[in-house]
Amino acid sequence: MSDTPPYSPGRIRPRRLRKNQVVRDLVAETHISPSQFIVPHFVLGAENEEKAIPSMPGISELGIENLVKNVSADLKLGIRSVLLFGHPDDATHKTPDGKAAWDQKGAVQRAVRRLKSEFGNDLIVMTDVCLCAYTDHGHCGIVENGYVLNDASLNPLVHTALSHAEAGADVVAPSDMMDGRIAAIRDGLDQGGHENVILLAYAVKYASGYYGPFRDAADSAPDRGDRQGYQMDPRNLLEALREAELDEQEGADILMVKPALAYLDVIQTVRNASTLPLAAYNVSGEYAAVKAAAANGWLDEAKVVRENLMAIRRAGADQIITYHARDAIKGKWL
Ligand code: PBG
Ligand code: ZN
Repeated sequence: MSDTPPYSPGRIRPRRLRKNQVVRDLVAETHISPSQFIVPHFVLGAENEEKAIPSMPGISELGIENLVKNVSADLKLGIRSVLLFGHPDDATHKTPDGKAAWDQKGAVQRAVRRLKSEFGNDLIVMTDVCLCAYTDHGHCGIVENGYVLNDASLNPLVHTALSHAEAGADVVAPSDMMDGRIAAIRDGLDQGGHENVILLAYAVKYASGYYGPFRDAADSAPDRGDRQGYQMDPRNLLEALREAELDEQEGADILMVKPALAYLDVIQTVRNASTLPLAAYNVSGEYAAVKAAAANGWLDEAKVVRENLMAIRRAGADQIITYHARDAIKGKWL
């Protein structure tokens, strides 16, 4: 040991601003409000049913009465937006054209009507618009000779969006990734007198392995092939800008990037390229991975969820669609 004095950083000491919780809160750059959360729900046809989703611990498919209770509890926590998914009660009701998707008696359509009559404008009801849970082949559009047709898939998607709007949905969110569907749906809504229904476009949606648990829940996995012919290639970033720009030109009100965590650079890039509100979808596989590790005691769930959600916000997302919302607020993890 020499007797030279230890090195001193001098005047500038970033640690001053990390001194204690109050100081850290004073200078925190990122905040999340419960009103920015959008909570996905899987709706079942039978009123009082509840069916746990094994690959998504803590999440169940809910019959409409259970859904109302669940949403009511979330409203008390300040969560004011839901995104509804459904599938036919009976898999034999799936057809090549997925027509059960626009059945006014479908679980989603009934849930929309029930939620809007129960909660009115206190709750924003969003619906996922897609065919994959309703087609017998499990693809997001109409299939011919193994190819998912683009233009022929647009009308069924418009019908589906219209059926949701007629039920009273505030927001429709097409997740299919067909070209031109935002324009087609906007025109369909406007012609149907639904010019004030908001269009949240799954503008930048990658062909991802992180959708696995969702496909179990929604019973929407393709029977043959995969979705790489219509969802985006994870290697691409510039393409995200093209997709975002197209959906904006076609009339989207809010853009979305999905998944979120492996695509934080995409969120940031799209944020900087558009002035529209930007949502990010923290998807089922991202949720399942955290839950599984936490259940094994390998990760501290509260810390990791906080980090993940803050990362999504820091990257530039304004709204976060996440299955963690209730736990994060209840546990004061944010
Ligand atoms: C349907 C749809 C999917 C998700 C949302 N809408 C699955 C898919 O495209 O295969 C994924 C949501 C999640 O994983 O949480 N098109
Ligand atoms: Zn789909």
